[in-house]
Amino acid sequence: MLKTYAVIGDPIEHSLSPTIHNAAYRELQLECTYIAYRVAQGDLATGIESLKKIKISGFNVTIPHKIEMMNYLDNVDDNCKKIGAVNTVLNDDGILRGFNTDMDGFLEPIKRKELEIKNSKILLLGAGGASRAIVAGFQKENAREITIVNRTKTNGDELAQFSNKLGLNATSQTIEDMNSFDSNFDFIVNASSLGLKNENNIIPEKLFDEKTIIYDIVYKPVKTDLINKAKEKNCKIIFGYEMLLGQAIRSFEIWLDRKAPYDVMKRSILGGF
Ligand SMILES: NC(=O)c1ccc[n+]([C@@H]2O[C@H](COP(=O)([O-])OP(=O)(O)OC[C@H]3O[C@@H](n4cnc5c(N)ncnc54)[C@H](OP(=O)(O)O)[C@@H]3O)[C@@H](O)[C@H]2O)c1
Repeated sequence: MLKTYAVIGDPIEHSLSPTIHNAAYRELQLECTYIAYRVAQGDLATGIESLKKIKISGFNVTIPHKIEMMNYLDNVDDNCKKIGAVNTVLNDDGILRGFNTDMDGFLEPIKRKELEIKNSKILLLGAGGASRAIVAGFQKENAREITIVNRTKTNGDELAQFSNKLGLNATSQTIEDMNSFDSNFDFIVNASSLGLKNENNIIPEKLFDEKTIIYDIVYKPVKTDLINKAKEKNCKIIFGYEMLLGQAIRSFEIWLDRKAPYDVMKRSILGGF
């Protein structure tokens, strides 16, 4: 029987998830299909009812529903509880089970490249939904401390509080404060929306050198200004598409209980740009 999967959110038309998952189904000759379904803010309950009616097998959840979706689940995994948001739902015969694969998706390329997180010092730009999963990931892997820089200081303060509560030592600073930082960060992560519209990098270049790992989670364009600057300085680089791929692979494995075809899914993403 054909199994249907989906991603719900708004906006949704530019989502790469259908491309990635359908490429995997084709490769493994699975009788599955994956669609993008626009569900506007305020319409989540109706959207879920519609998905249940078509006996959806599972779905991904993206902006703006990741937090509200928690209210519609029959049970959630530990990552959802920790982060307070869900991005993957499995429909187990009418029982909706929630998972959060953003954290493992973020960590996946770091682990794949065998980079050390334990005891590391992190600079994180951004304090939105994705940043929460990132902070939780660094805490899980025993990073030493994290400096959070955000445009709106109060949002940065809130994320620092969340991090300290989890047990990862955090401080919140302003964008201007970055000019006075020492250049001893092991990881510099951009989890803000900066770069999405080809904006210039705002992280001072004196903060990174060839030992620094620069991770830009913005995946469109593939090469943001931050990535280009990091290349000039010979930094170790992790691209946003690698996180996107990491979370898609985890969702695939939760739904289908088998290993995802990494290379095929990667090729489908890079072909989509
Ligand atoms: N690679 C992946 O798999 C993946 C996964 C999730 C998200 N992302 C990308 O990551 C980015 C953030 O996602 P999100 O879900 O965390 O979004 P979000 O919840 O809307 O948060 C956006 C963050 O970016 C900051 N920001 C927005 N415009 C800015 C600007 N002009 N200058 C400085 N800071 C700015 C916001 O600061 P304020 O607090 O001041 O508003 C906030 O911290 C998006 O570009 C998204 O596409 C990638």
